[in-house]
Amino acid sequence: MDRRTSSKHQEQLERSQRKWDFWSARESLWGFYERDTREFRRAAVSQLHLEQGDVALDIGCGPGTNFELLREAVGSEGRVVGVDLSPGMIERATERIETHGWENVETIRADATALPLGTDRFDGALATTAVSSTPDVRATVENAYGALKPGARFAVHEIRLVPSGLGRVLNPLIERFYRVFGNWNDEEDVFTELERAFDGATVVEAFALGTNYIAVANKADEGK
Ligand SMILES: C[S@@+](CC[C@H](N)C(=O)[O-])C[C@H]1O[C@@H](n2cnc3c(N)ncnc32)[C@H](O)[C@@H]1O
Repeated sequence: MDRRTSSKHQEQLERSQRKWDFWSARESLWGFYERDTREFRRAAVSQLHLEQGDVALDIGCGPGTNFELLREAVGSEGRVVGVDLSPGMIERATERIETHGWENVETIRADATALPLGTDRFDGALATTAVSSTPDVRATVENAYGALKPGARFAVHEIRLVPSGLGRVLNPLIERFYRVFGNWNDEEDVFTELERAFDGATVVEAFALGTNYIAVANKADEGK
């Protein structure tokens, strides 16, 4: 059975939507998170090697946290498309676009595990702490692969448990924190799925005891 039609998947989607709608209304907390992660997001965007005029996809865009950085990378001739499941997040992202008067940024409310975005369309895709909060990491990563043009890259900023060393003693607490606040999917590993679906994947940077990392995956020029 297709996992996306299972009742467990639907329940997870609904829970995720409720959780992110809740956070979308906590703007001051979100502002703190945004400032705190700006350098990680900047590092992830730089991995995309975007050029002026390119079209960029932001998967699980939340309140549009990455739009400014992506806009800088594609210029006024390029386009940015943000996708998110949560209506509250899409509302915040749309407000941000309107406040700045960005004419080349659009949002789509959609489930990233079933992206209706066509194939070979984007010059780069970004997802910051978003793939691991979807209920089907494999489907999300495969959809990103399909949506990218041959030769394009997918960069992620992701969270995971402490991978090695004494810090692993903190993992039960960290896991609980991720699940309660971020609806973390503990059944699938984002990097494993990037390696599986793409033609190459590398962790380029890890920080905070290895619990946060930036990885980039590439779609070969001729596709798989
Ligand atoms: C931790 S927030 C990150 C938001 C933004 N990328 C950022 O860095 O500020 C995770 C986002 O993923 C979105 N999300 C979760 N599951 C999703 C799904 N199945 N499809 C699309 N977006 C999803 C949530 O609604 C939320 O906005």
